[in-house]
Amino acid sequence: MDKLVIQGGKPLHGKVPISGAKNSALVLLAGALLAPGESVITNVPNLADVGVISEVLARIGVRVMMDLTTHTIRVDATDLTDTPPPYDLVTKMRASFFVLGPILARLGYARIPLPGGCSIGSRPVDLHLKGLRSLGAKVIIEHGYVEAQADKLIGGPVYLDYPSVGATETIMMAACLAEGTTVIDNCAQEPEIVDLAEMLIKMGARIVGAGTQTITVEGVSQLHGTVHDCIPDRIEAGTFMVAAAVTRSRLTLTKVRADHMQAVISKLQEAGVGICVEPNGDITVDGTGEFHPIDLRTQPFPGFPTDLQSQFMTLLALVPGTSMVTETVFENRFMHVDELQRMGANIKTEGNCAVIQGVEALTGAPVKATDLRAGAAMILAGLAARGETTIGSIHHIDRGYEDIVGKLSAVGAQISRAQRKEVLV
Ligand code: EPZ
Repeated sequence: MDKLVIQGGKPLHGKVPISGAKNSALVLLAGALLAPGESVITNVPNLADVGVISEVLARIGVRVMMDLTTHTIRVDATDLTDTPPPYDLVTKMRASFFVLGPILARLGYARIPLPGGCSIGSRPVDLHLKGLRSLGAKVIIEHGYVEAQADKLIGGPVYLDYPSVGATETIMMAACLAEGTTVIDNCAQEPEIVDLAEMLIKMGARIVGAGTQTITVEGVSQLHGTVHDCIPDRIEAGTFMVAAAVTRSRLTLTKVRADHMQAVISKLQEAGVGICVEPNGDITVDGTGEFHPIDLRTQPFPGFPTDLQSQFMTLLALVPGTSMVTETVFENRFMHVDELQRMGANIKTEGNCAVIQGVEALTGAPVKATDLRAGAAMILAGLAARGETTIGSIHHIDRGYEDIVGKLSAVGAQISRAQRKEVLV
């Protein structure tokens, strides 16, 4: 197993290019299944998760041509089949579940492994299934699979008890080929939903309201392929903004969308981090000023994103005073706290609340990535800490950050990937 080795305390400087959004690319690839013919998706990040969903598509009759040197994936779903994707692939990468809606809508039948939970929570899919049932599908769960059947999906009203990103995407995709009108109420408003809707509209879908709490879809009989450019990754961008703050550096992010990051920018500014959105869209971050404690509460978009909660906690661990973080989206997203405490952080948790007393400095230590975003938080802690930090289980990080070692090294960080010596006991 690989590990990361970081010598902390190095200031960062220069420009960091932000890659395409993982949480958009994965669902765009699923959305391409709604049409026979070829779709081309550009600005696709080179990530382990993208590799997994591409393998899932290839196993269900889809021709997938990846050229990650140009960050482009060509998908031809003409010969899409209702063969269930491999159990291990779907349970390994939950976003594979996104293929359910498109396969059902195109073929009238789909059998997909239940994705199951992960370390941050139980991650149920009841809202996905409720939505498909509202469109007239017969949906059962048996032997660990979701089986959905509908000769023809019929548009109708769908109310989401929680603005679930995945459920909104599943229902919006299925509704594109339903008969009649579907209105999804209390839906998610994330930029990734808007990106998916924009691609589907280019494919011939009739969608209004993406990015608001109500999406209306007018079903059509068939869609066609298209070319679509994936939006930049706002979570990767936020991670690098925190990197500038914790290393007390100035850093510029390029290929980034400030309009996707209002909550993140506001909370950084409240903490004393300087943010300047340049006329060309680049974002310059100034972490050299005086920091202040803040209170953070994760919420669905446009609230503060849960995917940046752990990274912000690393920053707050170094901010003098008392800060508070409340995680309202997932039930177990504080696993980075134990690892930060190994490095000297002063954090107490009670349920979904964490109280952070800022300390003068963190000290390097052997830690591990417990999940994708917690792993990012540990990298940030290593960049700020005195001495050497080693981070194990970095396969979690490779799922969601393209070439993070290369990008950080290019702006002055002392970070490398090393073979972890397995201690034979
Ligand atoms: C997407 O997950 C993202 N993943 C997550 O990013 C992100 O944290 C999350 O949205 C929230 O923004 C992808 O897009 C691939 P949800 P998703 O459905 O769709 C509950 C990362 O680090 N819920 O909005 O699974 C659920 O348990 C990942 O990049 C139900 O109860 O998130 C959770 O508490 C992590 N029933 C809450 O809603 C359902 O049917 C939010 O989940 C679905 C969800």
